[in-house]
Amino acid sequence: MQHIGIVDDNPTALTHMRILLERSGFTGVRGYTDSHAALQAFTLEPPSVLLVDYLMPGLDGIQLLERLQASGATKHTPVAMVSAAEDLEAMRLAAYRVGAIEVLAKPVNPQEFALKVRNLARLAMTTLPGSSQGGFGPLVVPRTGGATGPRSDARREDAALLRMLEKVAAIRDEKTGKHTTRMAFFAAAIAHSYGLSLAQQDQLMMGAPLHDIGKIGVPDDILFKPGKLDDDERVVMQRHTMIGYELLRDEPSPTLQLAAEIALTHHEHWDGSGYPFGLAGEHIALSGRIVSVADAFDGLTTVRPYQQAWLVERARAAIHNKSGRHFDPAVVVAFTAAFESILRIKRHFDGDDAFTAC
Ligand SMILES: [Fe+2]
Repeated sequence: MQHIGIVDDNPTALTHMRILLERSGFTGVRGYTDSHAALQAFTLEPPSVLLVDYLMPGLDGIQLLERLQASGATKHTPVAMVSAAEDLEAMRLAAYRVGAIEVLAKPVNPQEFALKVRNLARLAMTTLPGSSQGGFGPLVVPRTGGATGPRSDARREDAALLRMLEKVAAIRDEKTGKHTTRMAFFAAAIAHSYGLSLAQQDQLMMGAPLHDIGKIGVPDDILFKPGKLDDDERVVMQRHTMIGYELLRDEPSPTLQLAAEIALTHHEHWDGSGYPFGLAGEHIALSGRIVSVADAFDGLTTVRPYQQAWLVERARAAIHNKSGRHFDPAVVVAFTAAFESILRIKRHFDGDDAFTAC
């Protein structure tokens, strides 16, 4: 059962949120008006979703989240910061910096509040330990081959929608549309080498091109900034993972569900140093771990405005060197085993992008 934690020093606001959640069907609500008591309780028993007031005596919302983050207790807990509307702009970046993924204005709109908490609860289910196979579990659909009827119609509609979304994603990316297609082929080759089924390889190839679709929500001055991003800008840029996930997560198509999972997890690192959640090891969805390697290899071997392309052997060595830190060692082994196939795919696409070895 999922437990929703609420911390708000105002007992009336706390009770109001509790009632709204219980009316929406959440039964395990744990509320605290004392942030120190909440810190102790949630360190020992982390909630599935956490809602924290911004301004509180003792530990304020930011300090409470910093402490919880440092303890690692809420590593898998989606967090929303709640605050009076006039404080929202001041606290928004600070809240994101300490791991909040939603910012809610008080007094809460009952319907919006319940829906946002429901979405956070769904997210919690995808990030909890044990969800490492993510969309490759029950979401996988079999190959339809020459099948006809409603299922194949739905499949065709999915493919058309995916192609359209892929074009939308490409508009807001410094990489070309060919990058996303080529990278998706790399991901499928790695998945094959890893031992995933043909259906899983197919699904990965269709979902992977949408990994950066969340960049459509990143402002131009940050997305296209020629120089290095500062800390605040980096926080905004990193939101593309959550934005992509939010765009795709409610689509019923299994492939779009997988694409949502990839969007969310493709910047997580095996050692826990990635974002948005700092997940580590098999807590990261396998789809994200595979796309991470495919994306890195393609990025390194392709000319970008700020970088010449690397020789393929240099890129392979760089990925190998980051095995166990940035990348899943088992996926790197699969990548190495699939290297000849990956080079064949690259040669096939090489006519489409300028290629300069250095
Ligand atoms: Fe990305």
